[in-house]
Amino acid sequence: MRTLVHIHDLSFAPFISETTIQTRVKELAAQLDAEYAGKNPIFLAVLNGAFMFAADLFKQLTCQPELSFVKVSSYVGTQSSGRVDELIGLQTALKDRHVVIIEDILDTGVTMDKIGTLLQSEQPASLAVCALLLKPASYKGKHQPQYIGFEIEDRFVVGYGLDYKELGRELPAVYQLIN
Ligand code: XMP
Ligand code: MG
Repeated sequence: MRTLVHIHDLSFAPFISETTIQTRVKELAAQLDAEYAGKNPIFLAVLNGAFMFAADLFKQLTCQPELSFVKVSSYVGTQSSGRVDELIGLQTALKDRHVVIIEDILDTGVTMDKIGTLLQSEQPASLAVCALLLKPASYKGKHQPQYIGFEIEDRFVVGYGLDYKELGRELPAVYQLIN
């Protein structure tokens, strides 16, 4: 694992190694397989951050998972109600399906609450969240996520899909901001 990583104006130190991540990904996959085997689950990976986690998780899953990549987009609607959220990229009907959202990180939980609300209107049979990272100290989401890779302190992290101003996603490990 590299030592310090410099991105734009900031420096990051090694935090969760590639080996540690891969071990945990295997454990999560085993848990998901136990729950979803025979249920024809569909996993929705949230772009851009979750791409690497989703790819590694999928290599381990044996529950015959389907995969779709989605993105939350916020736009100014035609009504005076201000900004409207929509989920783009979804091409499969989710009604009566077992759905698992794959996220990179849950911080305040605002993003996940938005996604949860949008997906509940599709009437899935079940809806679960699998996130690589959770910051418990700042998380205020409506639901506790079911599958979490690592709980971390409230510090900015990059790597393994996570970016700082769009850089750092390619790193195979997670790094945390140092000051
Ligand atoms: P919320 O607060 O809605 O935030 O749960 C989720 C989104 O915020 C981004 N985020 C981070 N991105 N390092 C990052 O690279 C971090 O430490 C971090 N904390 C939050 C991320 O896009 C996530 O989907
Ligand atoms: Mg980001």
